Amino acid sequence: MRPLIAGNWKMHGSLRASVALAESVRAGADDLAAELLVCPPFPYIQAVAMSLLGQPVAVGAQDCHPAVQGAHTGDVAAPMLRDCGATHVILGHSERRAGHGETDVVVKAKGAAAIAAGLTPVICVGETLAQREAGQAEAVVRAQVAGSLPDGFAEAGGIVAYEPVWAIGTGKTPTEADIAAIHAALRQAVGPDTRLLYGGSVKPANAAAILALPHVDGALVGGASLIAEDFLAIARAAG
Ligand code: PGA
Repeated sequence: MRPLIAGNWKMHGSLRASVALAESVRAGADDLAAELLVCPPFPYIQAVAMSLLGQPVAVGAQDCHPAVQGAHTGDVAAPMLRDCGATHVILGHSERRAGHGETDVVVKAKGAAAIAAGLTPVICVGETLAQREAGQAEAVVRAQVAGSLPDGFAEAGGIVAYEPVWAIGTGKTPTEADIAAIHAALRQAVGPDTRLLYGGSVKPANAAAILALPHVDGALVGGASLIAEDFLAIARAAG
């Protein structure tokens, strides 16, 4: 499976900085073994997609609403993202599960909306530190996968990202054995064709070791994706 290195830009940057970052990523994107995806904040998706038109870097969003349209002030529908040039959408990130009360049911509905709009969903799962310390990491992740993946997910090329909550933005990562164990469980749950990304403090220094683990088909990168050089170094580490 061709690896995917996805950048989650979260709520960072400006219009000018986003386009500049996209162009710097694009400049290093030729001849990579990995596919690249960048996910800017909503207002910058169209400009970034325009600057990457026809280039080997895909553009995604960081969320969408489950409805196609309607009276949902402040929300963005999946077809609007597609219209603006996005091909992917991150869903169920822990910052949305925790900060916006998103349940598995909500994430599943968003995933269905994404697929209906022709977007590839990237659905995030991951345990908290308390859950890991209680020995529940695998059970939590299995339950999130069972509850968050919509029908037709595998057929639509849906992607799962394992992001332990305690590893996001902290500089901490699970051991390689722990990542491998969760990814083996995920592989069993989703089947052979679904890409499984690892996310949480992926940096150029640890990328090669993480990306070499079995059933790790790429990375979802937060902080390091804001620096083109670091993001590309991670992509090169994918082989
Ligand atoms: P991080 O974020 O790489 O900054 O830990 C990953 C993510 O939240 O997707």
